[in-house]
Amino acid sequence: MQPPSFSLIFFVLVALGTSQFLSCVAMDNITSISRLQDDGSTLMSAGKIFELGFFSPDGNDVETYLGIWYYLRKTVVWVANRDKPILHSYGYLSIGEDGNLKLLDEMGTSYFNTTLESSSPVNRMLKLLDSGNLVLIDGSSGNILWQSFAEPTDTFLPGMSMDKGLKLVSWWDSGNPKTGNFTFEQDQENRLYRIMERSTVVHWESDQSGSIDLPYFVAFLLSNFSPSLDRANYKPSNAYKTNIYKWLREPFTSNYSAALAKYANTRLLMNSSGEIQFYIKEEGVPEWLLVSSEPQDACKVHLPCGNFGSCNLKNGGRSCECLLGFEPVHPDTWNTGDFKSGCRRTLEICNPNTKPHTFLNLKLMKAGKPDFLAASANSENLCRQGCLSNCNCLAYYFGGPSITDNLEQGCSMWTSVLTDLQEDIDRGHNLSFRVAVSAIETTSRDCQTCGKHIIPYPLSTGPNCGDLSYHSFTCNDSRGQLFFLMLNNSYEVININKEDRRFVIQVNRQRAENCDARSGRVLQFSPSMPFNVTNWCYNEPLTSIQMIEITWKPPPEPICNSLKDCRGWPDSNCSTAIDKRKRCLCNPNYKWNNLKCISGANI
Ligand SMILES: *[C@@H]1O[C@H](CO)[C@@H](O)[C@H](O)[C@H]1NC(C)=O
Ligand SMILES: *[C@@H]1O[C@H](CO)[C@@H](O)[C@H](O)[C@H]1NC(C)=O
Ligand SMILES: *[C@@H]1O[C@H](CO)[C@@H](O)[C@H](O)[C@H]1NC(C)=O
Ligand SMILES: *[C@@H]1O[C@H](CO)[C@@H](O)[C@H](O)[C@H]1NC(C)=O
Ligand SMILES: *[C@@H]1O[C@H](CO)[C@@H](O)[C@H](O)[C@H]1NC(C)=O
Ligand SMILES: *[C@@H]1O[C@H](CO)[C@@H](O)[C@H](O)[C@H]1NC(C)=O
Ligand SMILES: *[C@@H]1O[C@H](CO)[C@@H](O)[C@H](O)[C@H]1NC(C)=O
Repeated sequence: MQPPSFSLIFFVLVALGTSQFLSCVAMDNITSISRLQDDGSTLMSAGKIFELGFFSPDGNDVETYLGIWYYLRKTVVWVANRDKPILHSYGYLSIGEDGNLKLLDEMGTSYFNTTLESSSPVNRMLKLLDSGNLVLIDGSSGNILWQSFAEPTDTFLPGMSMDKGLKLVSWWDSGNPKTGNFTFEQDQENRLYRIMERSTVVHWESDQSGSIDLPYFVAFLLSNFSPSLDRANYKPSNAYKTNIYKWLREPFTSNYSAALAKYANTRLLMNSSGEIQFYIKEEGVPEWLLVSSEPQDACKVHLPCGNFGSCNLKNGGRSCECLLGFEPVHPDTWNTGDFKSGCRRTLEICNPNTKPHTFLNLKLMKAGKPDFLAASANSENLCRQGCLSNCNCLAYYFGGPSITDNLEQGCSMWTSVLTDLQEDIDRGHNLSFRVAVSAIETTSRDCQTCGKHIIPYPLSTGPNCGDLSYHSFTCNDSRGQLFFLMLNNSYEVININKEDRRFVIQVNRQRAENCDARSGRVLQFSPSMPFNVTNWCYNEPLTSIQMIEITWKPPPEPICNSLKDCRGWPDSNCSTAIDKRKRCLCNPNYKWNNLKCISGANI
């Protein structure tokens, strides 16, 4: 949020001198006989912490709003008339004849009002408290009749409580307080917190069981310092930068007023691009410090890749990919980075014409809720067989309980849909994902899959597969990660495109700060090598992760010992080639053309 302009206030400051300015406007309340006018006057809370007055967002001196901001830092925390700015006129705030709070202009147009039952005679007072709460008080009983804490804008301040169905609604953008696209709220039934986009789409949701997606210090604030909040259910504070934020190191207390005191100078903001941000102001540091925000990354968004899509932060800007055998439902939006529509199947699973099924062993995974637990399948093999024998089975998991996604011990199966998949999670688990053999194997010499990677011929991860001149890859099977090895360096392979004969590797930032510097420095291929760099700046500037795209040259005819080795290459015969090695050479009238013998008529 940009600091709004307070030119009028400063004008008064300069004109009257500071001490006079303070004595002139430092009142914290109005009654039915006073009003707050848009002439530089403000209400100031007793301890000079919050101020209520008129402001215009930076770079916009046409629209005027009534709001509350931190006196020292001018950070706006509440706006009365966010969707009805005062234009070309001066407003004033007063307690009307019926006892309601009214924001009117000179012409009598109303911009904001409360809707209390009228009282007469009017004996009410509007007061700005040091908590930032603006309260309308009954003069005789002292009861609070209305308060801004019950009708927040985009900011949650200590002392508010989410329990009462409160909603924080983002500004339109950082310079415009108009109602924006994102709402933060608590589900009053199952207590979880969520961010809604335009009230219809869940943008983010805290975890179902407990609330491990939210740090304890934020949950504690949201509960209005409830002592019954079970700390173990939340992310511990030390997962954050306790070495930077002293505030996080001080112990949290369950004494309400002590907690309130600790949280003085903190705020929670539903920001205009959909993140709920927690800020603190530490002594001696002039700026607000951003301590945490949710969703933390593109994969933490609610169902980031839709159905059958898988999220991976390593892919940089393109965080989602469809699973093997699936394609984007809406390629247009998918290609612009909006992945929520997900993927749909391209290959039928139980088609008798497709080759038998096998599994891709996805590693370090997180997955959405399985459809059922097959209690009788008490071995990996039984679980696997159970999945193969069910036409609807998409994937299985066999193992102990998993904390990343609350899987239970045993054999879990997914039969309806796979959602919420994420790869490369620290404490992720293995997931066996069903595929047709034909989708992963095209020649008899293909190497085994490596995690989600299918390694097409001629690429090779070992002496017994692929073509040996392409043996520049190695698979870390326990992590399902594939590496490209070159001159003693290893680079993680991000993806492989068989049709276009290219793959993408990740390079270390230390080795080259920018793309131009990479050329020749990071990788050098001699002309005899079967690889070429085709893009030094793959996927940039979309991503902060640096990637290089490499193309492999088409392979020569495969090495063979006998005709048996040439089974995967129709119309060829095992015989001695020009290089004196035995290769699957194409029969007469056929010619070798990138992986296969094609008939002479087509050449
Ligand atoms: C209201 O403000 C006046 C100063 O403008 C102050 O003297 C008075 O004590 C305040 N009343 C209350 C109840 O805070
Ligand atoms: C007070 O506000 C309500 C909506 O909040 C509106 O319907 C009503 O017309 C307003 N009354 C006046 C007198 O402005
Ligand atoms: C809010 O959502 C609408 C509809 O998707 C979009 O047109 C608009 O640009 C969004 N607003 C902002 C500030 O991004
Ligand atoms: C909202 O918060 C996120 C995360 O802190 C930040 O990256 C983004 O720039 C913020 N949006 C705005 C409009 O300030
Ligand atoms: C695979 O990766 C893990 C974790 O990085 C490592 O401990 C292990 O040694 C690796 N295995 C191989 C075969 O390189
Ligand atoms: C996943 O499978 C690999 C072997 O493919 C194994 O090394 C690893 O320990 C398994 N991971 C878990 C969490 O069970
Ligand atoms: C690769 O490592 C080996 C053994 O550590 C070393 O002898 C060789 O010179 C290295 N090659 C390059 C190109 O750095």
